[in-house]
Amino acid sequence: MLKIAFYDTKPYDREWFEKKEHNGIEFRYYEHRLDSDTADFARNCDGVCAFVNDTIDKEVIDRLYDIGIRLIALRCAGYNNVDFKAAYQKISVVRVPGYSPYAVAEHAMGLLLCLNRKIHKAYFRTRDFNFSLNGLTGFDLHDKTAGVIGTGKIGQVFISICNGFGMNVIAYDPYPAKNSGITYVSKDELFKRSDIISLHCPLTDETKHIINKESLNKMKDGVYIINTSRGSLIESEDLYEAIKSGRVGAAGLDVYEEEADLFFEDMSNCIIKDDVLKLFLSLPNVLITSHQAFLTAEALSNIAGCTIDNINAYFSGEALENEICYNCLPGERHGKCRKKEKGRCF
Ligand code: NAI
Repeated sequence: MLKIAFYDTKPYDREWFEKKEHNGIEFRYYEHRLDSDTADFARNCDGVCAFVNDTIDKEVIDRLYDIGIRLIALRCAGYNNVDFKAAYQKISVVRVPGYSPYAVAEHAMGLLLCLNRKIHKAYFRTRDFNFSLNGLTGFDLHDKTAGVIGTGKIGQVFISICNGFGMNVIAYDPYPAKNSGITYVSKDELFKRSDIISLHCPLTDETKHIINKESLNKMKDGVYIINTSRGSLIESEDLYEAIKSGRVGAAGLDVYEEEADLFFEDMSNCIIKDDVLKLFLSLPNVLITSHQAFLTAEALSNIAGCTIDNINAYFSGEALENEICYNCLPGERHGKCRKKEKGRCF
């Protein structure tokens, strides 16, 4: 029986992993996140299963390697929390590249609709028998320009949703999707022309703080910014200043730069030390959800199914379609990976 240490377990993870056929795999569920203090929980296990806010840096990788771990199965698409250089040729890393682009794209549109039509405010008003409409005016999305940064799986679904609303869509992606019919423009043109900007690119050295003081200054007054990708795409203090000055009309954030110690947990009895987050939460035109864009039944089912398939493929010596490594990733070593010939990165 394979034993997999399953970190940062939430009830919905356990429910969906246990529902899936996983003969031959015993998941050892831990509520703790993976970090240097908890890496030892995986002793006597064959692999670990980790999520977005687990720490998978060199120290953790070396510890896991020392106790015999050779597989990290990420149950997510993003992998910016992994030190791939440290893992290379030691521990294989597999992920779930796409589990429901609809889940995330629909949530992004949900944030936009809610902010624009002030549904979050209306909900509280009517519960208090306050049926006034003052201050709830929105605008038609029809004919507005949506600027989409990153046109992979989620970005493309978001674009088709925007098209359904009769919006004009422009996009920026250094690797444009071929034959997609998407109108690509430069980053600067996107900043200049968009009424709404939605981020759907991964967090890399190149995209870190893609939304900052400089890019915000290039945008239209009143622009809406939606981020369902990764918090560090936005320089939070710069965004706060732009909202405070009225230049940014609203922000819908499913991810936040400093989310790691907060999101996914009930912190309602704690004193939150992050002043920028508190300021954001005090603003009527900022809507924060705690990294929940992926959270649909379909996505959870696909995550569990794909992770179990990845684990089985690794231990039965099969090719690893969903493996990623130091040489696969964007950057100077991009393209040097030998997975195409060998079926595995190393
Ligand atoms: P994908 O890999 O299909 O698409 C990413 C796109 O970004 C690609 O087209 C790529 O060319 C583009 N890109 C790369 N570098 C770029 C740059 N410098 N500027 C602009 N675009 C760039 O990924 P997918 O599945 O669409 O996911 C996008 C992101 O969504 C993930 O990286 C992840 O961070 C985030 N995500 C968030 C979730 C949530 O629950 N909030 C759940 C799943 C993913």
